[in-house]
Amino acid sequence: MKLSVIILAAGKGLRMQSKLPKVLHKLAGQTLLARVANKAQQLNGDVYVVYGNGGEEVREAEASLSVAWVKQEQLLGTGHAVLQVLPHIPEDHQVLVLVGDSPLVKVSTLERLLDLTKPDGVGLVTAEVQDPTGLGRILHDQTGKVLGIVEERDANIEQRKIKEINSGIIIVPAKYLKTWLPELKNDNAQGEYYLTDIIELAAKKDIPVRSLLADSPEEVLGINDRIQQAKLERIFQRLYAEELMLKGVTLLDPYRFDARGEVEAEQDVIIDANVILEGKVHLGENSSIGANCYLKNVYLGKNVEIKANSFIEDVVIGDGCVIGPFARIRPDTVLGEDCRVGNFVEIKKSKIGSRSKINHLSYIGDSEIGKEVNIGAGTITCNYDGFNKHKTIIKDGAFIGSDSQLVAPVTIEEGAYIGSGSTISKTAPANKLTVSRARQVTIEGWQKPVKKAD
Ligand code: UD1
Ligand code: CA
Repeated sequence: MKLSVIILAAGKGLRMQSKLPKVLHKLAGQTLLARVANKAQQLNGDVYVVYGNGGEEVREAEASLSVAWVKQEQLLGTGHAVLQVLPHIPEDHQVLVLVGDSPLVKVSTLERLLDLTKPDGVGLVTAEVQDPTGLGRILHDQTGKVLGIVEERDANIEQRKIKEINSGIIIVPAKYLKTWLPELKNDNAQGEYYLTDIIELAAKKDIPVRSLLADSPEEVLGINDRIQQAKLERIFQRLYAEELMLKGVTLLDPYRFDARGEVEAEQDVIIDANVILEGKVHLGENSSIGANCYLKNVYLGKNVEIKANSFIEDVVIGDGCVIGPFARIRPDTVLGEDCRVGNFVEIKKSKIGSRSKINHLSYIGDSEIGKEVNIGAGTITCNYDGFNKHKTIIKDGAFIGSDSQLVAPVTIEEGAYIGSGSTISKTAPANKLTVSRARQVTIEGWQKPVKKAD
């Protein structure tokens, strides 16, 4: 079966009270439009996005999506929106219409709808909801046959009591759309050409309409305002947390966990409360993440322990490392195995060899640190001269005394010892003690200051 998928994304989204077009608002770190488009793409058809409100902004913001863009110049309704795409669609295609503001629909539901209407049937996804306010209601006859959809604003009191609602997801063969869409009228409460009126046309022509009830009403919820956006975010996060738990991750509190990207977790990972994972995150077996950590694009090896309140972005962390609490590891950093990075340590664009330790209060930037290096408390790499960044190289087994400054570019050779409180701006030779600090003196005859009388 040949398929074209149309994503409707031209609407105004007035209730968002935003300058940003609605479909560019995010759910779990990804725009609504990208979420819906990614699902559409899994169905192996041509994908079209109807855009309009916000002008080219939507198209430019989502230029990386591999979809065809069709502009709806005037927002005359969902039926009119689909009509704009129709000239691009071959006559023998099934046309699946998705709404850009309903990001939770499951690909499996869409696949079931495709199956149910194979090869050229008409169908739609519906749901039974507690509160149908604002949604289109499904009309049936006594035998259960679908007769049409009535929008809330056009519905009478009896119709408004109906709890089966239209999800907005409809499938219709292109050959029918070509004759039916031009027949739509806009004599309704909103003065719009409703795509939903297609269903009544089908029923009148005795073409069966197959309706598929979604597994759960949550799946078809749409976002019209920021309250619904927050509600859907929580639903998404709960479902994602459940998926991770089923794969063997312990979430100490799944209600205080946020994944805004793709999490790949091996078995027996433990995640404490208030952890946020963004982008691509890999969590190796037996790793644990303490409370209040933020990780973005991070690869954790096995048996890694991230202690509370750490902030880690674009970093690879080798097996057995122990990080934090209160560590900040910035982009382009790679830690070998069994490293220690302790509290109030900031690392940026650096390579740290296996079993090296930076345990307290340090800044390590643009550095290459070998294996089994010990960086004492308060050590700072002075990597920036106000114009350029320079490199610090510390070779295997070196020991940097506490409160040292390493003025880059500078090299600390293998096994070198740097005495505490040194400012090092030249190469420190291997296996020798290098110190640069004033000799300690005690001033004889020094007088303690006394407070002057007024
Ligand atoms: C629509 C359905 C309703 C259903 C609900 C589910 C119609 C007439 N009604 O109502 O039965 O219960 O979705 O969420 O279809 N859009 C355009 N161009 C337009 C108008 C809308 O692209 O001219 C897009 C919007 O951006 C949106 C989608 O179509 O993504 C639905 O439009 P919206 O105005 O949100 O319709 P609802 O009132 O929610
Ligand atoms: Ca809507």
